[in-house]
Amino acid sequence: MSIIPVWRSPDGTLAAAQPGALHLWLIDTDMPLSAGLGCLSSDERERAGKMLAQTAAQRFCAARIGLRRIISGYLGVDAASIRFSYGKHGKPGLAYPSARLQFNLSHSGRLALLALTDTDEIGVDIEPLDSRPALMAIAGKLFGEETQKSLEMLEASQRTQCFFQLWTLREARAKCIGNSVFSQPDMRISALNFTPEAGWVAAVAMTRTIPEPSTWCSYRLAPLV
Ligand SMILES: CC(C)(COP(=O)(O)OP(=O)(O)OC[C@H]1O[C@@H](n2cnc3c(N)ncnc32)[C@H](O)[C@@H]1OP(=O)(O)O)[C@@H](O)C(=O)NCCC(=O)NCCS
Repeated sequence: MSIIPVWRSPDGTLAAAQPGALHLWLIDTDMPLSAGLGCLSSDERERAGKMLAQTAAQRFCAARIGLRRIISGYLGVDAASIRFSYGKHGKPGLAYPSARLQFNLSHSGRLALLALTDTDEIGVDIEPLDSRPALMAIAGKLFGEETQKSLEMLEASQRTQCFFQLWTLREARAKCIGNSVFSQPDMRISALNFTPEAGWVAAVAMTRTIPEPSTWCSYRLAPLV
């Protein structure tokens, strides 16, 4: 897997995105929340308030604040005024303002990844490459016995890498069409792995062909000062 985006600071050209372009944003979910909290909706605050672990609540809020700030940058509206609607299995979409923007968010540990485009449905997934004892049992259930056997033949670090490549492709495909990860993946959806950072794996999926990686715009969200 050789696609390693270069995460740049945005240069003020967000609104001028080319039709069909793929934009990716990496968000540090351990960044201080400070002033950003004010843009969250009451239901987002309520969700955070119900989370038992403080870290999970902090990271959920950071990802949602990031999502709001980034959409606000593209559409030129106040981050607090953005409203989301939710699909059958919980996929957020834009309810206000009305725009062609499609997006999907994934978070795991200290990182969140946001993918945006204007023409296709889109799904994204990010995972750290940590080996957990239950991986092979999950592999058997989700990918079938053949794949489980092939994975078991690999050396440990390669096995973890391959497992998470398959896992993120599956999740990104499911999330693209707002499904559950337990649904059968629709292999007609294009999906591609990439390395967001060393030690992490991600996948993006789109209902049409994924733009050539050299054309991707990849940004890192700066903390609010
Ligand atoms: C959706 C799902 C694939 C997310 O996987 P995950 O590894 O836990 O989490 P990720 O970090 O990659 O993605 C979560 C984010 O994707 C978005 N999301 C939630 N549900 C989604 C869905 N069905 N499809 C696409 N995106 C979804 C949200 O932005 C969510 O983050 P947030 O709510 O904190 O903003 C998984 O939880 C799942 O299969 N859920 C379905 C459960 C279900 O069917 N519920 C029905 C009642 S709502």
